[in-house]
Amino acid sequence: MGRIVEVTDVILRDAHQSLLATRMAMEDMVPACEDLDNAGYWSLECWGGATFDSCIRFLNEDPWERLRAFRKLLPKTKLQMLLRGQNLLGYRHYEDAVVERFVAKAAENGMDVFRVFDALNDLRNLKTAIAAVKKSGKHAQGTICYTVSPVHTTEAFIDMAQSLKEMGVDSICIKDMAALLKPQPAYDLVKGIKQRCGADTLIHLHAHATTGVTLVSLMKAIEAGCDIVDTSISSLSLGSGHNPTEALIEMLEGTGLTTRLDKDRILKVKDYFTQVRGRYREFMSEFTGVDTEIFKSQIPGGMISNMESQLKGQGAAHRLQEVLEEVPRVRADSGFPPLVTPSSQIVGSQAVFNVLMGKYKTLTGEFADLMLGYYGSTIGEKNPHVLAKAEAHAKKPVITGRPADLLKPEWATLRKETEALESNNGSDEDVLTYAMFPQVAPKFFKSRPAGPKNLGKDPVKKDATAPAPAKADSKTVSAVQAAALSGPVSYVITLHGKEHKVTVAPGA
Ligand code: CO
Repeated sequence: MGRIVEVTDVILRDAHQSLLATRMAMEDMVPACEDLDNAGYWSLECWGGATFDSCIRFLNEDPWERLRAFRKLLPKTKLQMLLRGQNLLGYRHYEDAVVERFVAKAAENGMDVFRVFDALNDLRNLKTAIAAVKKSGKHAQGTICYTVSPVHTTEAFIDMAQSLKEMGVDSICIKDMAALLKPQPAYDLVKGIKQRCGADTLIHLHAHATTGVTLVSLMKAIEAGCDIVDTSISSLSLGSGHNPTEALIEMLEGTGLTTRLDKDRILKVKDYFTQVRGRYREFMSEFTGVDTEIFKSQIPGGMISNMESQLKGQGAAHRLQEVLEEVPRVRADSGFPPLVTPSSQIVGSQAVFNVLMGKYKTLTGEFADLMLGYYGSTIGEKNPHVLAKAEAHAKKPVITGRPADLLKPEWATLRKETEALESNNGSDEDVLTYAMFPQVAPKFFKSRPAGPKNLGKDPVKKDATAPAPAKADSKTVSAVQAAALSGPVSYVITLHGKEHKVTVAPGA
């Protein structure tokens, strides 16, 4: 047998973040865990900023409890999370002691693999988190956010991989959030990293499916020696999500390469999530196809919908095209940051301001901070005229040091503020929840005793892991009626042993 290609499934985190607005309740993931745990994955991604946020904002679910539950339900498989470097799971820089505490607590609660990234690819924003992961004895994965620009050459990414290796990471992730990584560049990048950093350097590729080209990119990366790839079981895949796990397995046939995955287990999980997915249709992304315009505009789908709603709010929905053309110019002026949270929102909002109010007539505070180095450094040069405007607007100087070096110790204050909140449980975990989302956490602590909410319609029974089509008979008519309130729904109804497909539209 040839080389084994290892696989991480993202179905428990990024897949429903990309396709179902991160709304999936833990209750709906539990029934799939036994099969996932026994399917032969390298790791299962199950935790990150958006799932943490969604837990406390929408699901009344303690994200730390979710992590502990995954640990119990997935005893054989490594758990993996996405960590935004010095920002942890929040939207600002945290002081080093908070970063260290967060990593230690996540490790203690069961996390194994920490994929650490920074939106600007500024290594200084990764180093404290990576050192903390190493100290906890867990797997530190350093991340390259892949993007395309005149300054982002294959050589520049290989340099970054080498710097990550020197920081002591256990593996290197190439993170392609906008599906911009075409097959040949994928091959060249993986080959180049292996050549420069050593053949034993573990490389893990995360690519979204949005542009339709990245299943081939996975193949080319594997041919170049990529060790681990991210996919998602097909019933929660494609669109702005990920390439399907089953397709990856089949694609390797005849190549001498293989995975360790158990197709029967995966089929069961696929059937299970087919049922679950339908119940979250009100949160389902409308984008399910392929979009190659991203190659031209460089703007990921999620960012376009953000800008659309900003423009609508200003009664200027018709100016979207102008904004789309402005984004690449703002990105160039700010040193070509990769467009990922939070840089995508910062650049997108400034482009909206430029179109509506005149070029850099008004700056957002965040854009001024980005220009002045308060998020870190970019590899491209910044436009000096815009930089001068940012200095005048923000009335503070350019910084060239590591942003977190400006921060004062804050753990004691965060603890004191948390202890003043009603229904906090006194744990470090609660302090960290408050630190990440200070606006949302107080309300969550108060409502927590009521227990988790499931926003899916007509919950699947807990033992419903067996592959069975959603059935409706006389006793489930009320569920059909309830579902009809939220939009057209298709059901398979079994009548006299025959299956009939029935579509129920609102008001019908
Ligand atoms: Co992703």
